[in-house]
Amino acid sequence: MAAGMRGGGGHAPSRPLTDEEKKNAPKLTWPLLKRVAGYLLPYWPRLILVALCIFVSSFLALMPAMLTGRIVDEGLIGGDLNILLLLIGASFCVLIISNLLSVFENWLSAWVAQHITFDMRNKMFRHLLDMSHGFFTENRQGEAITRMTSDIGGVQSVISGTLTSLVQNSILVILAVIAMYRTNWILATAGILLLPLLILPTKQAGVKRWSIAYKAQAKNDEINQILSETMSVSGQMLIKLFQREKAEYNKYEKANAEMTSLNIKETMAGRWLRAMVGTLVHIGPLAIYLFGGLLMLQYGQDLTVGDITVMVALIERLYRPVNMLLNMQVDIIRSMAVFTRIFEYYDIPAGIKKNPEALVPKSLDGLVEFRNVTFRYSAENKAPALNGVSFVVEPRRSVAVVGPSGAGKTTITSLLPRLYDVSGGGIFIDGHDVRDLDLAWLRANIGLVTQDTYLFSGTIRENLLYADHAASDERIMTACKEANIYEFIRSLPKGLDTEVGNRGIKLSGGERQRLSIARVILKNPGLIIFDEATSSLDSISEKLIQAAIEPLLKAKTSIVIAHRLSTIMACDDILVLSGGKITERGSHHELLELGGLYRALYETQFGESASHGMDA
Ligand SMILES: Nc1ncnc2c1ncn2[C@@H]1O[C@H](COP(=O)(O)OP(=O)(O)OP(=O)(O)O)[C@@H](O)[C@H]1O
Ligand SMILES: [Mg+2]
Repeated sequence: MAAGMRGGGGHAPSRPLTDEEKKNAPKLTWPLLKRVAGYLLPYWPRLILVALCIFVSSFLALMPAMLTGRIVDEGLIGGDLNILLLLIGASFCVLIISNLLSVFENWLSAWVAQHITFDMRNKMFRHLLDMSHGFFTENRQGEAITRMTSDIGGVQSVISGTLTSLVQNSILVILAVIAMYRTNWILATAGILLLPLLILPTKQAGVKRWSIAYKAQAKNDEINQILSETMSVSGQMLIKLFQREKAEYNKYEKANAEMTSLNIKETMAGRWLRAMVGTLVHIGPLAIYLFGGLLMLQYGQDLTVGDITVMVALIERLYRPVNMLLNMQVDIIRSMAVFTRIFEYYDIPAGIKKNPEALVPKSLDGLVEFRNVTFRYSAENKAPALNGVSFVVEPRRSVAVVGPSGAGKTTITSLLPRLYDVSGGGIFIDGHDVRDLDLAWLRANIGLVTQDTYLFSGTIRENLLYADHAASDERIMTACKEANIYEFIRSLPKGLDTEVGNRGIKLSGGERQRLSIARVILKNPGLIIFDEATSSLDSISEKLIQAAIEPLLKAKTSIVIAHRLSTIMACDDILVLSGGKITERGSHHELLELGGLYRALYETQFGESASHGMDA
């Protein structure tokens, strides 16, 4: 009945619940129910139809039980073959109609459930797209995937399983009780008095079972994380190169074994109880035979054999749904847990606040100013990644930022397009604080070539169109020429339609970089940020990339995180960043004269290329 949701109560725990388990136990609260109802509401006409189908098919399903009395009394004992055949035929038809109706009801509820999960998945994906960059660096990818897949998948079983089962069993109970009282009130009361025997043992079982389910879900997150990390191109390469296959396998097997045992525990949690209750269900009819028999034979009550037969049939019809309803308390708690987990994600605010009265400037001059910018990745970090950084880049001028690894160079590039917001100070474009500018406008006007280039799987063309989905082949080709990747693309048998592979793995590092430069050229922003890859490229690739970025530096306001002397030399100004602070600034020659960090970097980091630079 509760498709996908494991039914069953829970073996009453001998161990008291820990505080964590109590805290994590989902609560069935009004606000939560209202919120869940909000998702059902748009489908109310169909949901009412579902309830109606359930009602009618339950009613019809009770009919044969009612007819058994007449089959016994009038057909068998009365000896009337015609009536016997007629009643059996009628019962048969009613059963068929009832089953046809429940097929229709299944289809309807599956339809509604699928449409609701469709809505929720889309909403979740949109929400995840709006999440801050920080969210993705802080949270494990596996968790987001579980919310998208198994949690939202759980909603579907909640609706087509738990919810319909709840309605159906409640209706069955009510109908059975009415039918019992219509047959014989003394026997009906006797049958109902036996019910507490069923109800009492199931008390307090749900939360315990939930705590197992909660742990199983957390394990599921962990397994998804392991999968998404090890199955990624870079991950599996690392595994091969460090020969960690065995270790990774063991890690996976351990998590898998833990989840398996949790799943078994969860299934078994209610097993004893169910066996007990199952026995009680069968005691009901026996008790009715006994009690009814006594009344009829000893006390001469006005009862027929048919009446007792009907009552026995009805009591089974009553106990089964009561049993289901009792088992369902766990499913309901579990359902609430599913919704709680989903809503928890929905409620994470998008990190970067969109300003509703944001400015959308008509054009961009390209004046960039960092004014006393301080930035911390998280409150726990004692030393800020950037500490009082101030500099100005005039329109169409370029600055190179150099400094040792971890100085905060990449951090500067993340702040300008508001992947993060500054912790102190401000960043201004044409005199406007970036937080006052329309986020879409801001990001549309910034082209960022990141330190490690990312391409989506697909063709070269698809990746380039990412910048401007309407770009013509001609524009694409021009951009490719400017980025020095045109000849390479032309040499490929499939040209622009070449598949780049997962993350662009089929291309070399230099090719990927030039493609990402072409992608930024196609975007045609007023500000360019170029975070030069630290990985060393061969001198031909380096020259090609150099030739690709130099014209950009001349035409646009640019900030270049430079690791190569040739790039530094192409910029108008140089900032030296160290430990999140700007320690030196000036031209190449001024800084060499100064004899500080720049000179030291020049002599070590650029040692090899420095001699080329000097030759040039
Ligand atoms: N997402 C993050 N969360 C927390 N700390 C971070 C994060 N990214 C970077 N950091 C820390 O902030 C500091 C500055 O990092 P950043 O990436 O800006 O260095 P970088 O100058 O670009 O170095 P490199 O030359 O090696 O690329 C480092 O100490 C780093 O550990
Ligand atoms: Mg960096």
